[in-house]
Amino acid sequence: MVGSLRAAALLACVVLCALLLLLISGVQQFGAQLYADDEEVLLRQLKERRRERNDPSGGESRLLVDSSGSTEAHLDEMGCEALVGMQALEVLGSGYTKLVFKASLSGGQSVALKLVNEQGIDMKKCLEEFRDPEGCRELISYKLEKEMILLRKLQHPNVIKLKGHCAGVQGGRGVEAGRLAIILERGDPLQMIQLLQSPWEDRFRVCLDLVRLLHFLSRSPLGSIGLLDFQPQQFVTVSGELKLTDLDDGSAEETPCQTDADCTLQFPQRNFSVACSAQGSCERLNEKRNIYNAYRYFFTYLLPHQAPPRLTHLVDHIMNSTGELKADVNQTLEAFEHILHLYESGLHLDDIPASILRDYTVMRGMGTSGAVEYRCWPSYSQQGCLLSVHGAKEAAHICNSHSQCNSFTLTGQKTWTGRLLASFKSNFSHLVPDETSEVYVKKSPSS
Ligand SMILES: Nc1ncnc2c1ncn2[C@@H]1O[C@H](COP(=O)(O)OP(=O)(O)O)[C@@H](O)[C@H]1O
Ligand SMILES: *[C@@H]1O[C@H](CO)[C@@H](O)[C@H](O)[C@H]1NC(C)=O
Ligand SMILES: *[C@@H]1O[C@H](CO)[C@@H](O)[C@H](O)[C@H]1NC(C)=O
Ligand SMILES: *[C@@H]1O[C@H](CO)[C@@H](O)[C@H](O)[C@H]1NC(C)=O
Ligand SMILES: *[C@@H]1O[C@H](CO)[C@@H](O)[C@H](O)[C@H]1NC(C)=O
Ligand SMILES: [Mg+2]
Repeated sequence: MVGSLRAAALLACVVLCALLLLLISGVQQFGAQLYADDEEVLLRQLKERRRERNDPSGGESRLLVDSSGSTEAHLDEMGCEALVGMQALEVLGSGYTKLVFKASLSGGQSVALKLVNEQGIDMKKCLEEFRDPEGCRELISYKLEKEMILLRKLQHPNVIKLKGHCAGVQGGRGVEAGRLAIILERGDPLQMIQLLQSPWEDRFRVCLDLVRLLHFLSRSPLGSIGLLDFQPQQFVTVSGELKLTDLDDGSAEETPCQTDADCTLQFPQRNFSVACSAQGSCERLNEKRNIYNAYRYFFTYLLPHQAPPRLTHLVDHIMNSTGELKADVNQTLEAFEHILHLYESGLHLDDIPASILRDYTVMRGMGTSGAVEYRCWPSYSQQGCLLSVHGAKEAAHICNSHSQCNSFTLTGQKTWTGRLLASFKSNFSHLVPDETSEVYVKKSPSS
């Protein structure tokens, strides 16, 4: 009891401290001098932003105007009232522009709150240049507002879900004016290091989700969208599913051009050239940039290593066609879905004979206890050797290839593809009744 009170007090303090910091930083800047020239530039930028927001024609602004012409809340979205009584703010992540908190709403739902990062690089740069905290806050809030509107228009399983927003105090021009918070489905920031150590199946899922996202973005309601800041930090996972969360610097414009020479894609390792269309824009440059970025930030790290032996030629083909930009996003998606189909259906295992199971005695409705475990990599469990299999045949094939393996148990647990988790063991002391599993024991054990 005392412990939980203390924890609550601590959390309250964390929340307060965070808010105080934000407020203080805002107030401190009020004293700053304004420089006339800078002020003009800032005012011009602000005017442009305001015009973009209000004028439906031309440029990026068409992104921001709903069919109804408004940027107001939609009826089914949460508003400020949803945040009343929320608890347990903790920072989930931050970037140049935005700060993201985890919050538990009074109904028990856990969400992410995204705000302008008052300590971020964007704000610092703006303040250095213009010394106008209110103007800078408005300018940067605009990015958050743009993101909110994009999230409404680009709904997809691999884009984070917007649940609503709270615009703070309306109308004022002061500390509160720009305090927009958008309410998002909560995810887990993508941890590349952790992902590198996960089973291939989970890494493949992230890449497949990414390609599904890029396929959608290439033909989105707003045109073909290029992600200009394409890094793992811009994504989170929700129950293992990849979702894009940072949308503020997507571009829906294809680069204008006069000749092919105006259409080059430059990366540190590779340059590509793209054709300039008769309409004077670089043909599908956004799609191509996205594919190559997927290759260099995701596929190279996640896809080839530990791929199932019978699928490596297909994986290698994807690596080559995306790394050379030989395949468009449709072809890339097809190649990924084909791998998924083989992997789920077990068709790639056709050449393993069913007779392989003759070497094993099967006991259905049984599990084991007192097991002598051994470790393998990459296992779903730290202690033993737990791998996904299509069925008993593939498990027997794996067991035969591990010198320590004398038995395996097909558990009732499934991975995201519907494959079964199988636990491989050296030996065990007892069989125990277990409705959900089957034990296979080698008839002639290896030593
Ligand atoms: N819905 C979310 N759930 C969990 N973490 C999130 C969520 N959205 C963003 N984050 C984390 O917050 C960080 C900053 O958010 P982001 O939108 O990328 O801001 P910025 O535009 O400043 O880069 C992200 O890198 C990510 O780790
Ligand atoms: C890409 O093009 C730039 C500009 O033309 C050039 O400086 C750079 O060396 C090229 N990089 C590669 C890897 O070819
Ligand atoms: C693609 O394959 C070709 C031919 O084998 C090879 O020269 C090239 O380096 C490969 N490219 C990538 C990005 O893997
Ligand atoms: C990609 O696939 C979509 C259907 O999913 C189709 O409408 C579109 O024309 C295809 N694009 C190319 C370049 O083949
Ligand atoms: C497995 O364990 C049993 C009982 O614990 C033991 O009698 C047997 O010799 C072991 N078999 C192997 C192959 O280690
Ligand atoms: Mg970001």
